[in-house]
Amino acid sequence: MRNRVIILIVVLSAVSLVGLMVTQAFWVNKAIELSQKHFEQRAYNALCGTVDRIIKQSKMQPFPLADSSAKGILMQLDHYRFDSTFKKLVEFNKIHDPYEYAVILNDNDSIIYRTAGFTSYGDESKKFKKCLYDLNPKLSARLEVVFPTASRSIICSIWNWLILSAVFLVIIVLSFVYIIFSVFWHKKLSEMKSDFINNMTHELKTPISTIAITSEMLMKLDATKSGEKIQKYARIIHEENRRMQLQIEQVLRMAQLDKKDYELNKEEVDLHELIQNAIDNLFVDLQEKRVSLHYHFEATRSTAIVDPLHFSNIIKNLVDNSYKYSYDDPVIDIYTSNVDGGIMISVVDKGIGIAPENQKYIFDKFYRVPTGNVHNVKGTGIGLYYVKIMTEAHGGNITVKSEPGKGSRFDVFIPFQ
Ligand SMILES: Nc1ncnc2c1ncn2[C@@H]1O[C@H](COP(=O)(O)OP(=O)(O)OP(=O)(O)O)[C@@H](O)[C@H]1O
Ligand SMILES: [Mg+2]
Repeated sequence: MRNRVIILIVVLSAVSLVGLMVTQAFWVNKAIELSQKHFEQRAYNALCGTVDRIIKQSKMQPFPLADSSAKGILMQLDHYRFDSTFKKLVEFNKIHDPYEYAVILNDNDSIIYRTAGFTSYGDESKKFKKCLYDLNPKLSARLEVVFPTASRSIICSIWNWLILSAVFLVIIVLSFVYIIFSVFWHKKLSEMKSDFINNMTHELKTPISTIAITSEMLMKLDATKSGEKIQKYARIIHEENRRMQLQIEQVLRMAQLDKKDYELNKEEVDLHELIQNAIDNLFVDLQEKRVSLHYHFEATRSTAIVDPLHFSNIIKNLVDNSYKYSYDDPVIDIYTSNVDGGIMISVVDKGIGIAPENQKYIFDKFYRVPTGNVHNVKGTGIGLYYVKIMTEAHGGNITVKSEPGKGSRFDVFIPFQ
């Protein structure tokens, strides 16, 4: 998939996700508003129902002392048992919150009676008011009722749904992030794979064409006269064939690593000796660059139980990298020291270095630093992948410290077993 398409899909999905969140927030708000309205309706039903009942009762049994004095109002309300009637109707309307109320004179808003928790300065919009005029035209007063815990209980009634939708949203966001990351990761992997195939094809094409040309020349030679030339061409064919074999072995080895299908034939060996032999073997064919190689063998205990073949390959890969990713005259230092029940081998170079943002990927399969001189240098991007897997198979670990333009240091720790 092309980059632009992926970015478009990511942007569209991100916008839709934000849209979904906003819509969800809108509906949650609407649900709270509706619950509030429903509550208000029930509270008014209870209040109006109570006053209606009192009116009916007062028509059947008129109250003799009814007048507009504060005492008269209170006595009248008390006579018709406002409190107990209201309580019954509140419960009937399925309101389970406690309530507070006050009787207030309309003329000067003075409170003539209030329950202990009623406060006159509370939020006016949360008060339910009913004029007592209908009860007796002389009564210029009103009832005000508040339910202090109403807002909390409204939220509590839809709390489960709120939590559920928050959980679903979090799951969707996490899945979205995961999918985006894996799309980009797979895209990168497929690019690295195609780079690898290109490199491999190139690496195999060169020996194949050399072999084709050399064998053709060999066929044209007169076998009786050109003994020396035959020898030379045969050696070239042999060498090129070996190169191809090594390439193919590398691919096969990688397949084994993927399937964890490898065996370690461990034995007790002197690592200093093994390191030196591996590096001698590596540099047999390399004469183009002048390498200055220094050994600093400071480990006093240098024998360990390792697989000599794989251990040599670890060292060869690291030193080969130091050589490949250095400027014209590579300077490579090999250090060993004893740390924490094992031996630390450090391969240090003064080469091109690796930028911090690329360091975390260099042990990944097929990964090659995408810029700089690297593409002038041949490679398949599986060297360090192999090194990491093999070091860990020996119970050890590998770390890198590097600065672009200054050089790199690879520390391999192998425990004594
Ligand atoms: N010593 C080093 N200095 C600078 N860059 C390095 C060094 N070692 C590794 N790298 C970077 O890490 C990448 C991965 O290294 P790795 O050895 O896995 O692959 P490679 O050398 O490209 O190919 P090969 O499979 O042939 O070893 C390299 O392509 C290079 O960009
Ligand atoms: Mg390498």
